[in-house]
Amino acid sequence: MCGIVGIVGHSPVAPLIVDALKRLEYRGYDSAGVATIEHGELGRRRAEGKLVNLEHRLGDQPLGGLIGIGHTRWATHGVPNETNAHPHFSRDVAIVHNGIIENFAELRDELSADGYEFASETDTEVVAHLIARELAKGATPVKAAHKALARLEGAFALAIMFRGDEDLLIGARNGPPLAVGHGDGEMFLGSDAIALAPFTDSITYLEDGDWVVIRRKEMSIFDMAGNPVERRRQKSVGTSYLVDKGNHRHFMQKEIFEQPEVISHTLSNYLDFTKGTARQIDLPFDFASLDRLTISACGTAYLAGLISKYWFERLARLPVDIDIASEFRYREVPMSPRMAAMFISQSGETADTLASLRYCRGEGVPIASIVNVPESTIGRESDAVLPTLAGPEIGVASTKAFTCQLSALASLAVRAAHARGHVSAEQGKKLVRELSEAPRFASQVLRLDEQIEKVARDLSQVHHVLYLGRDTNFPLAMEGALKLKEISYIHAEGYAAGELKHGPIALIDENMPVIVIAPYDRIFEKTVSNMQEVAARGGRIILITDQRGAERATVKTMDTIVLPDMPEIITPIVYALPIQMLAYHTAVHMGTDVDQPRNLAKSVTVE
Ligand code: F6R
Repeated sequence: MCGIVGIVGHSPVAPLIVDALKRLEYRGYDSAGVATIEHGELGRRRAEGKLVNLEHRLGDQPLGGLIGIGHTRWATHGVPNETNAHPHFSRDVAIVHNGIIENFAELRDELSADGYEFASETDTEVVAHLIARELAKGATPVKAAHKALARLEGAFALAIMFRGDEDLLIGARNGPPLAVGHGDGEMFLGSDAIALAPFTDSITYLEDGDWVVIRRKEMSIFDMAGNPVERRRQKSVGTSYLVDKGNHRHFMQKEIFEQPEVISHTLSNYLDFTKGTARQIDLPFDFASLDRLTISACGTAYLAGLISKYWFERLARLPVDIDIASEFRYREVPMSPRMAAMFISQSGETADTLASLRYCRGEGVPIASIVNVPESTIGRESDAVLPTLAGPEIGVASTKAFTCQLSALASLAVRAAHARGHVSAEQGKKLVRELSEAPRFASQVLRLDEQIEKVARDLSQVHHVLYLGRDTNFPLAMEGALKLKEISYIHAEGYAAGELKHGPIALIDENMPVIVIAPYDRIFEKTVSNMQEVAARGGRIILITDQRGAERATVKTMDTIVLPDMPEIITPIVYALPIQMLAYHTAVHMGTDVDQPRNLAKSVTVE
């Protein structure tokens, strides 16, 4: 899930490529590189680590040239060092790649036997050599690229240029996204429209199996058989943001604090607060006639789906199957005509979620997707796009996208409940009113920042943390653990509170903080019993609850974070904030890279 860029323009392209790469750094930041052609010669600058290192390199050793390609890397094959950084060269060919070439070992053996030497450990270099070998046999650059593409198995988005032709870029897509940007006498290639937004909003998205020949004044798209294909040119709604952090220290912090506003935008998209009903947004199925709903997603988006299972089943009596997309895609789930599929993704590009969507498409099931980027591949391949209005999420750890996903899902559950006759108009109105209160409660919770920062100080001293919750707070406990481990690198696990005694309780001792998420609800007393079990074994409890819960919890806690009393339906949305804040402050205390934690990337376009 690297980011790639190509520009054939009329001013020096290296600074423009770096600018575009900044917007793609969410896709990976293990290394970065740029190559251009100047005075007929290929030139290249690469640097390990963040893009800023490449900028310094280019500052010391600038690159001229009116055509170029660039890359920001999330390492798959080969460690993240400069040698493995893209672009890769082979004789007259320069190439950048996002994805994985699955038959690279076989191709590498074949090319090595032909005398081609490999400078890096990457799978990408085989593509450069394959094209160079075709050129050596006398093929034109376009033919050479086409022949090489036909040999590739796996997932790839590629940008290729050739020494000796300063008016030719070739792009190809099989899996990861790739967009062509149309300028005025200049053309662009990019992993997404946002990367190209400062240059153009006129975009053509390549489909899987497409490859494109780009010159300054024209472009032609072909399928793998070499037949010309037409793809729609459209106006991108992507903004040319390089959003800044405002007065926040990190994007993650800014995004946590934006939540009251973006939750409100998202809820208003799905609910009519004046009428007290769910809006009749176009769906490719009728909730009333469904037997089952299948949901799949990855990571935090999966946990949003898991919370929604409680809502759909409880409020609408609609059975929900929920799967991690990397499992679902290979599970060969039987589907029936009265099923519908829902996918949840912030980026809309997650490879496993997309593959699950395509499986359902093959089974003929209607598909709706909740995405934060409606123009994304998942958005475009769905029968209905259900947007979250979170705005661009830059921090790698998902925060506002999660609460917006929950807002959309809760609203849909209310609509389903009404459609299936399980709530009266009056009950429906009450639920809508309760949901409308989520932004206000979220604002109140943000005022607890100072207290949560103090709790985080203690947390930053430990090596392991357990999160416990029941009902919708069980997936939230898993989300708390995920947030903490991904940005602070503290080992954390989320468990259903009632499951503790079936094994994990063996971990409890005086060094183990146990964070319990327990608003006062009909099963609060059960969770209190589980806290007693922890306390009896010396475990240190951090309780996140409300006023009533704090008064009734008969257990000694190390800390208690008290939220306002609120309606049950909004607790997962509002309680997400303190767990995000706790992870954020712990990571800040530990001095980790909060917005770009090690080994991660924002958009996971490989399996
Ligand atoms: C965790 C996180 C990831 C993503 C997951 C799915 O904070 O951000 O777990 O939720 O990679 O990504 P999307 O939602 O883009 O499909």
